[in-house]
Amino acid sequence: MFWIYVIIIATLLIALVELYIFISAGEYMWCIIHNQIPFVASSKYLRRAVVTEIQRHFPHATSVVDIGSGYGGLARHIAKNCDMTVVALENMPFTIMIARIMNFITRSRVKIIKCDAFEYLKSSPHFNIGVAYLGPNVNPRLKEYTKQFDVIITLDVPIEKLKPTRVIDVGHGCTHYGRHKFPHKLFVYDFTK
Ligand SMILES: C[S@@+](CC[C@H](N)C(=O)[O-])C[C@H]1O[C@@H](n2cnc3c(N)ncnc32)[C@H](O)[C@@H]1O
Repeated sequence: MFWIYVIIIATLLIALVELYIFISAGEYMWCIIHNQIPFVASSKYLRRAVVTEIQRHFPHATSVVDIGSGYGGLARHIAKNCDMTVVALENMPFTIMIARIMNFITRSRVKIIKCDAFEYLKSSPHFNIGVAYLGPNVNPRLKEYTKQFDVIITLDVPIEKLKPTRVIDVGHGCTHYGRHKFPHKLFVYDFTK
């Protein structure tokens, strides 16, 4: 009897993992087809660098939004280390479900909003800081939203034709977009200066 339970539980777990792989691959393909950057989690080096940047240069900021938050790892890392309202914007349903489960498990206070980030930002409240790990195809869109923020921090890729206030060389790792390799850097655009 014991072994029957073990086999049933193992079969269920394998089915769950396969379902996870199947649905996340489906969302990934959807993103590629619709020219949207798919979910790829930021590295621990990037997350640490973002928190250090916020703590060092923007200690009085009260709100931050992750524009395209994926499973919410970066947003939760900021919420854990910085005393401010943290909002995470994401539009892929399965990715949001995982982000909500992770929020529940870690008891995170990150507020996850299911939306197209760019539609949301058209009429959103003002945020002190926006962080974006969106890549070279999507980053140019951020230029239309500079009034929504005091500061925008982009990960690895600059905003085309916008001069950053600072560039932080993270020192470890890189992100590949197609055949191009982008070493881990933060591009900080401080619009209050
Ligand atoms: C490279 S991942 C970054 C995840 C997270 N910010 C991190 O650093 O770990 C980009 C995420 O942005 C989401 N995304 C891309 N365009 C979006 C849009 N217009 N609205 C909402 N989410 C978007 C994708 O679904 C994906 O989960």
